[in-house]
Amino acid sequence: MSSDAKRGRFIAFEGGEGTGKSTQSALLAKALQDRRLEVETTREPGGTAGAEAIRKLLLHPPGKGWNAQSEALLFAAARADHVARLIVPALDAGRWVVCDRFVDSSRAYQGGAGGLGDDAIQALHAFGSHGMRPDLTILLEVDEARLAERLSARDGGQSDAIGGRSAAYHRKVAESFRSLADADPKHFAIVDGMGDPAEVHARIMTAITPLIEGTDA
Ligand code: TYD
Repeated sequence: MSSDAKRGRFIAFEGGEGTGKSTQSALLAKALQDRRLEVETTREPGGTAGAEAIRKLLLHPPGKGWNAQSEALLFAAARADHVARLIVPALDAGRWVVCDRFVDSSRAYQGGAGGLGDDAIQALHAFGSHGMRPDLTILLEVDEARLAERLSARDGGQSDAIGGRSAAYHRKVAESFRSLADADPKHFAIVDGMGDPAEVHARIMTAITPLIEGTDA
């Protein structure tokens, strides 16, 4: 077994609110465990005590809220702690990491929809997290009308500081995700998130097979 085969694999889920990332992360983790792989499921912003504390500041900001730069820095700070304290140690110990959102959320939300641009987000990520990238990012896409239905069922009209932004902002997020994925097909799998969870899970397993087959599992 080569040392690369021993290292775990890092899979991130991306997509707008209500695209099914949490449901699909849990289904994927279970499927990997069924293949006798050790799996750590985690999320961003969050995953460690420090990053969870920053999450609260981001989603329920005190006072007037954050400006675009402060918001991007807080996401990058939460990520730096998460990468150093949870993700890298888990991968080094041979565990797979399944993460609900990672740096491509910052690229799509703060960089794209928020207007900071990709270079700024990449620079923060290079400084905070050594530019770490998932082995594979699964972008879940669901059409806008279906998303609106799912979100009103889930949040009942209540949402956080970022989820509650305008439809135009969220449309830009979705467009940014799509262009990031189109520009890097080797590291992204675009998966249709429409249909029942089992159908979507089957599509994800197809996308992930080369990664599983590349290990000694
Ligand atoms: P969360 O409830 O975890 O997401 P979801 O609604 O998809 O279940 O909330 C995280 C929010 O933070 C979500 O609106 C996306 C946003 N976000 C960013 O703007 N930038 C980032 O880098 C990350 C990780 C999340």
